[in-house]
Amino acid sequence: MNNLLENKRIILGVTGSIACYKAADLASKLTQAGAEVDVILTKAAAQFVSPLTFQSVTGRKAFTEDDLWGNQGHVQHIGLGQHADLLVVAPITANTMAALAHGTANNLLTVTALAASCPLLIAPAMDGGMFTHTATQANLKTLEDRGAVVVGPEAGHLASGLRALGRMSEPGTILGHIHQLLGREGGLKGKKVIITAGATQEPLDPVRYLTNRSSGKQGYALAQAAVDQGAEVILISGQTALTPPTGVQYVETRTAEQMLTAVLKHLPGRDALLMAAAVADFRPAEVAEKKIKKGKKAPQLPLTRTADILLEVAKHKDKPQAVIGFAAESEDLIANAEKKLKAKKLEMIVANDISTSDAGFGVDTNRVTLLFPDGRKEELPFSTKADVAAAVIEHLAGILRK
Ligand code: CTP
Repeated sequence: MNNLLENKRIILGVTGSIACYKAADLASKLTQAGAEVDVILTKAAAQFVSPLTFQSVTGRKAFTEDDLWGNQGHVQHIGLGQHADLLVVAPITANTMAALAHGTANNLLTVTALAASCPLLIAPAMDGGMFTHTATQANLKTLEDRGAVVVGPEAGHLASGLRALGRMSEPGTILGHIHQLLGREGGLKGKKVIITAGATQEPLDPVRYLTNRSSGKQGYALAQAAVDQGAEVILISGQTALTPPTGVQYVETRTAEQMLTAVLKHLPGRDALLMAAAVADFRPAEVAEKKIKKGKKAPQLPLTRTADILLEVAKHKDKPQAVIGFAAESEDLIANAEKKLKAKKLEMIVANDISTSDAGFGVDTNRVTLLFPDGRKEELPFSTKADVAAAVIEHLAGILRK
């Protein structure tokens, strides 16, 4: 299965905080990612947001306190709790944290939590001073010691007007932690991988640089897919507009030389390197200290070669077990990719057809063929970069098992 959240059964508990409105966005994001989301609202939460809001985004019944006493009340909590892959409580109030820490069960959500054996993720939201109170901190520690994943809270403006620690983390951040949690037993559990992504920039003067059209989308999708399979990921990135996936160690670089230095620095102890970055092959031979002014004649720009990172890795004593390259080609896709696979001593190369506008740079879809040193080729169907990433990561897991 490509998508980590596809068909996962997630209970989303929502408790009484103004941050409830953000929970609707979280429910929507989880549903769009393919999860079956059962929402349970406490009585206080239902004062802030209506169950209909959640039903509308999840397409499923949202449960309220009435369901604890409804005609299925005696089995509802057991049914919900026992079949879940994950229990998320976002926002969680100080009161519900106390209830979960002490195992009290006085509403549908806390009864369900007691009946559930799946992992628990909580995103606290509370007003000034409540989160740092020793009672709340003790409850938090109890839950953490029992294995709960705690996301946030963050500092900032609170409903009371105070600025303090207590804002619920954004739904996108919570979603990132859900990926990390659900992926932790995946096929790359315990594996350490480096992924490079994006374009490098080679400065010409303080204002200008040479770069290329790589957006970093495929590399970032690979980093997410590796996290989804439980890998420990270092993402070495060129300058992009993208947000690194939750859980990766992020290393920001600009030039090809900086990327080479970062890759070599992090190489010892790594199981795999995936070079998805579009690295400049040439850079201006000299970088002008001051802005180059326009004169009558167009300036000549002498260029010089940059190091080939994959070639440096191929001869390095710390070369990882699996090194995977990418080849973006506008012609002779397979022949060119085969040459690079051999020359750079790779375990796999992802040949990327950039001859059409729906694949390659900037877009969310891709056309790729995977090539292996024994001559095997696998053409993937036209798909999203997320699906391509999941397929590449699955092959990586296979290579590392050998
Ligand atoms: N690569 C690298 N260091 C470079 C250039 C490329 O490590 N200086 C890596 C890329 O990250 C990619 C693979 O080599 O994984 C192939 O990159 P590509 O630009 O397609 O090939 P080049 O070897 O640069 O050859 P050409 O530009 O002539 O196609």
